[in-house]
Amino acid sequence: MAIWVTGDIHGGIDIAKLSYRRWPQGRLLTREDSVIIAGDFGMPWSGSNDELYWLDWLNNRPWTTLYVDGNHECYSYLEDLPVTERWGGKVQVYPEYPNIIRLMRGQVFDLPAEAARSTRRVFTMGGANSHDKEWRTPGWSWFPEELPSWDEYAEAERNLAAADWQVDLVISHCCATRWLPAVLPADSLAEGITTDALTTWFDDIEDRLSFRMWFFGHYHTDVMPDTRHRALYRDIVSVNELLAESGRA
Ligand SMILES: [Fe+2]
Repeated sequence: MAIWVTGDIHGGIDIAKLSYRRWPQGRLLTREDSVIIAGDFGMPWSGSNDELYWLDWLNNRPWTTLYVDGNHECYSYLEDLPVTERWGGKVQVYPEYPNIIRLMRGQVFDLPAEAARSTRRVFTMGGANSHDKEWRTPGWSWFPEELPSWDEYAEAERNLAAADWQVDLVISHCCATRWLPAVLPADSLAEGITTDALTTWFDDIEDRLSFRMWFFGHYHTDVMPDTRHRALYRDIVSVNELLAESGRA
């Protein structure tokens, strides 16, 4: 059992990184192993044949695909999906694709992990602000639900308090305001388009929460701004290996 994490797939657009050709390790995984996508999963959306093909393809990979939501998700689809509980937190299992599961916002999960530890405690908080929303259509290509509601922030803080503010991993789509200079080009910072209620909240969480590693997507870059934070896009990383390398296994 192992946990792997990668960045945005945007439906079929950036999914090829999970092919055996690009990622041969994937062939060796089992249903007990999870590959977590750090937001912008992006399916289904329009219900096109392409999407159905990729959902089926992903569902038939040997691992279980988990994801936190990003800003590019079809929230009108997700709002109708039943919510159930698994690994100690709330999830939405895709009814026709049971090996694809959304990890909902503000949850603390005990996910099966490598043999030495049996589980890893994971805090999930999806969502992000779309910087291009003025060019998008509300309810179709942009949804106000892309950022958490006050209820979701409150639920997150309740669940973290119940976990004594201690987890192994944080998986989110965007990151705390303090890391933006490390993951964004300088000109976008100058335009002041990068901070929002969620990055501000994450800044507070950074100071209150004890964690070994924080993974996030959204910025379409693969960098480690420090030893405990990993921005992901094309890379697919083994949590166990990364923690071992940094002496935090
Ligand atoms: Fe994205």
